[in-house]
Amino acid sequence: MYDFTPDTTAPKAELYRELVIAAQALTAGESDGVANMANVAALIWQYLPDLNWAGFYRNVGGELVLGPFIGKPACIRIASGQGVCGAALASGNLQLVADVHAFPGHIACDAASRSELVVPVLRDGQVIAVIDLDSPHPARFDAADAEGITALAAIISLAIAPVI
Ligand code: SME
Repeated sequence: MYDFTPDTTAPKAELYRELVIAAQALTAGESDGVANMANVAALIWQYLPDLNWAGFYRNVGGELVLGPFIGKPACIRIASGQGVCGAALASGNLQLVADVHAFPGHIACDAASRSELVVPVLRDGQVIAVIDLDSPHPARFDAADAEGITALAAIISLAIAPVI
C-alpha cells in the first residue's frame, strides 16, 4: 500500500515539492511507462484539489493518443495543433488557459471543464507526452501550477517512455 497523505491546503509550492518527491519515489526502479503514468495521474489527482480530469496524452507518431488518466472518458486521438493539448505538442510550450471557452479550437471532453493546464513532457528536446489538467473552476491554474507541473514533467520524463 502506498500511503501519501497530502495537506491539500498547504501553499502550492510546498504541495508541488511533495508531489514531485512522491512521483520520483513511486516511479523509481519501475521501467513500465504505462504503470508509471497511471500512478503519476493518481498522485496528481490526490495532491491537487479542484480537478475534473488529470492525465497523459502520448506523442505517437506526431499525434497525441490518450494515456492513463483520472476523469471522464476522453477523446482518444488529438492531432498536432488541435485544441489545447495539440497546441502544446505543436509549440513545445505549456498552455495555461484560464477560460477554455475563449480558447479557439478547445476540445471539450467534459462539459464541466472551465480552465486547463497542459505541460509538455520533454525527452532529448522532443515532446514525448503532455500532462493535461482540467478544472471545473475558471482560472484554477496559475504560474505556480505551471512551474510545479513543469518540475513534475521533468522528473518523470525518463520513467514514462521506454529507453530506446
Ligand atoms: N481539452 C483538451 C482535450 C483533452 S480533454 O480535456 C481530457 C484540448 O482541448 O486539447
